[in-house]
Amino acid sequence: MPLVTSTEMFKKAYAGGYAVGAFNVNNMETIQGIVEAGQECKSPLILQVSAGARKYANPVYLKHLIEAAVQTTDIPIVMHLDHGADFEACKSAIDDGFTSVMIDASHHAFNENIEITKKVVAYAHERGVVVEAELGQLAGIEDAVNVKAEDACFTHPDEVCEFTEKTGCDSLAIAIGTSHGAYKFKPGQKPQLRFDILEEVGKRLPGFPIVLHGASSVPQDKVAIINQFGGKMPDAIGIPEDMLRKAATMAVCKINIDSDLRVACTAAVRKHFFEHPDHFDPRQYLGDARAAVKELVKHKIVDVLGSNGKA
Ligand code: G3H
Ligand code: 13P
Ligand code: ZN
Repeated sequence: MPLVTSTEMFKKAYAGGYAVGAFNVNNMETIQGIVEAGQECKSPLILQVSAGARKYANPVYLKHLIEAAVQTTDIPIVMHLDHGADFEACKSAIDDGFTSVMIDASHHAFNENIEITKKVVAYAHERGVVVEAELGQLAGIEDAVNVKAEDACFTHPDEVCEFTEKTGCDSLAIAIGTSHGAYKFKPGQKPQLRFDILEEVGKRLPGFPIVLHGASSVPQDKVAIINQFGGKMPDAIGIPEDMLRKAATMAVCKINIDSDLRVACTAAVRKHFFEHPDHFDPRQYLGDARAAVKELVKHKIVDVLGSNGKA
């Protein structure tokens, strides 16, 4: 099946009370692990690429790796630009064949966010590409933009109708307490999300797909493996999975996961080297990383997103 946009995926996800996983990809093994999991679970998938990923792997490599993965499977797959910083970044991805882009102008003032998003929507829609926009700011690291926890600002439900009407965006990322990276809460702090905001946004925008960024759960068994085998990730804490499951039954149709993939890969590679100090063939340890990604994504699809069997 060729690459698709997220339009149909989100309609079905909204109606079915589940979410589609948007997994960040940087290299071949991660793409393979994610797509094998999606295929086995018969789940739709979003493969997303950040500016950092494009810089690391070279945009041409990533695009062709994703297109190769698409040829190995019959599940619907979206190729999405994650956190497009400006019009040029989105244009470049659209011209390159991405079926979906995010314009992240959330750090600009409301009206400026609208103007920038509108320009991207016009360019994208003329070419059959869909657009995710963002209102409100997450704490944590978004590529080069480091948003401090005290500067994080939740989405104001009063603004969402005007924003979506004026911009024509296809989905909206909102800030309800998730954050990027592997250190989302301090030890002793009770993880919580503003479900009241999500509920209110859902009422104001019935049927409109909402996106959650910063939605990794930072699996503690994997963090323990990293720390056991020479790593140092003290106090890495993510969003409890039951909260994400609840969000997926509400208006959230897309859940972004990157840090969990990183943690799973790192745990697998560290364990591999500890158990096989003589190994030096990358296929051996990267093979373990690929298997770990696959196992993690299957778990997310079945136990968190609820998207199994929906392809
Ligand atoms: O939201 C950001 C993603 O986790 C991408 O991270 O910019 O390090 O590729 P990156
Ligand atoms: P995590 O850091 O929680 O995995 O968030 C990823 C993300 O939002 C990518 O856009
Ligand atoms: Zn993000």
